This record gives sequence, C-alpha cells and structure tokens, in this order.
Amino acid sequence: MPKVTIDGHSIEVPDGTTILQAARMIVDNKNYTGPNIAPPTMCYHSKLKTSGGYCRTCIVKVTKGSEKDPRPMPKPVASCRTTVMDGMEVVNTTSPEVLESRKAVVEFLLINHPLDCPICDQAGECHLQDLGYEHGLSKTRYDFPRRTFNQIDIGPYIKLHMTRCIMCFRCVKVADQITNNRYQGMLFRGDASEISTYIEKAIDNDFSGNVIDVCPVGALTDKTFRFKSRVWFTKPMDAHRNCTKCSGKVSVWLKGSDILRVTGRKDNWGEVQEWICNECRFEKKELKDWVIEKPTHIDRHSVISQNHYENLAQLKLDIGKQQKQISGKK
Ligand code: SF4
Ligand code: FES
Repeated sequence: MPKVTIDGHSIEVPDGTTILQAARMIVDNKNYTGPNIAPPTMCYHSKLKTSGGYCRTCIVKVTKGSEKDPRPMPKPVASCRTTVMDGMEVVNTTSPEVLESRKAVVEFLLINHPLDCPICDQAGECHLQDLGYEHGLSKTRYDFPRRTFNQIDIGPYIKLHMTRCIMCFRCVKVADQITNNRYQGMLFRGDASEISTYIEKAIDNDFSGNVIDVCPVGALTDKTFRFKSRVWFTKPMDAHRNCTKCSGKVSVWLKGSDILRVTGRKDNWGEVQEWICNECRFEKKELKDWVIEKPTHIDRHSVISQNHYENLAQLKLDIGKQQKQISGKK
C-alpha cells in the first residue's frame, strides 16, 4: 500500500487513492476529527464517477513525487485527480504558495458570480460562500461587465440561475449517471460556456431533483422551497418513509411543524449520501408522510451549523428526564 504524507501527517492508502481521498482519510471521515488538512472541493463528488478536475479549489503542492522519483511536481496539482504514489509528500494548509494559489482560484470563480447571497436560497450552506469567506479578496479587481442570464425553468420543480453557476459539471453528471435521460449539458467554451437544457427541455424523470442537492452554489434551486425561509431558521431532521423508488431516507427541513423542503442526507463533506426520488423530495411535505428519526447532524462550518438545536434537543430530553425523576415517575 502506498504511503503518503500530507502536511506532515502520514497514512497508508489502497492503490489508486487520490491525494484528496487520502487527506479525507487523515481527517477521519466518520467523526470529522483529527487535523483539518483536507482541501476544499467544488466539483468533486464522491458519488459521481469522473467528477473533479474542473474547479481547481482542491489544488495542493507535491514536494516529493515518490520514493522512486523524489522530484517535486513543478506546479500545484488538483488533488481530486492526482493519485498517490508511495513516498509522496504533499503540502496543503502548510504552504503559503498553495493558499495564495487557492485565493486566485476563488477570485476566478467569483469573477462572474453575483454577490446576491442576501437573496439566494443557498446562502448559509453555500460552498462558494464559505470559500469566499476563507480565501476570497474583500474587493474585486474585475472591471468588465459580469455575465447575466435570464432564469430558466427546468421542469416543474427546478429553477436554473445560470448567473450563479460555476461550471462544476456535477449536475450534468447526475443527469448522466442517476437519471435515465440527460437533457442538460455544457454548451460553448471558455467564458461563453453555460449549462443548457437543450432549449429548456424539462428533466422529467424520477431522480432529476438530485441536481439541486449536488449544486455547490445557488444555481439550481427547488421551486417548492424558493424564498420560503433562510436555511438557518429551519431545523433539519433525519426522516424516512417506505418508498418504492428510492431508499426514502431524507432530511426534512422544518419550521415549526411545517416541512419547508426535503433533501438527500449529506455527509461530512456536504456530499449526498443516497439519491432520493422526486416524489419524496417534492410531494411529501406533510409531517404524517414521514417517520422522524433525529436532528440531522451538520458538520459544515457554514452559517447553517450555527444553530445549536441538536444540543437544545438533548437539553430538552435531559430536562424532561429530570422533571420525571423529581415528580417520582420513571
Ligand atoms: S448549475 Fe450548479 S451543479 Fe450545475 S454546473 Fe452550475 S454550479 Fe455546477
Ligand atoms: S474539486 Fe478538485 S478540481 Fe474541483
């Protein structure tokens, strides 16, 4: 098994593991503990084949290629697309050069992205918002007009704000790999590229809603949730139902007893764990439709994780227990 050292932490990984995957293993994917050395990602998604390699936010520097050939790689590489070699040494958070390059990548990603977080449904759980906060410049150096597009309805449930798209290709890969039809794809090249629905054809298949969950920004939005609430005012709860099309395991986002939206459950990296069908996502918005399990655990350091409702739930349970003990009930 090849051994790689990232920011001074060594790990042995199976053949074919990428630097990004190795870094995530060091962080400890299950408990999200340990050194926080995993590079950020915008286009890589562990459940989508051939994803990654488009956004460059995951760049790292390889200071030693391998035991056999210790020469460093001449420029930063995309960690999601670079396979680990035995004896490889990599720097990420410890390299000022990598951090400077990442800053430049974020600046490029933000060239055309509007600063409309105050009205964007993705605000609070947006990967680009986090990235801009951590690595962005406080003002733009770009003098040219930004690209603008009209909003496009993609079928009855999804709206595309092309203006916010960062061309990560995740939605195209979902349509390609998860659904049985693909109507949207990337048209044109360079700064003219855009996600097209090939003349706005509806994506009318059972799993099309998953494009909303994989979009790292607010370019693909859920029409049943748009403008209903800031996401940090809602309480996500793990819930399930018997569904004949998907696993039926979801997160329902509650405001009081109203379900404002239903999404797939996401892992520590903000990536969908299991794809869910459109019936679960868009048509089951009553509490009676679901068996509620527990508060959805959110590790992301976004605004969304600032609601300490999980602790509150525990607190309520503890208080309930104490009250019962005081009143002599078991
Ligand atoms: S619409 Fe979203 S998921 Fe699709 S390419 Fe653009 S940013 Fe990525
Ligand atoms: S996450 Fe690696 S290039 Fe986008």
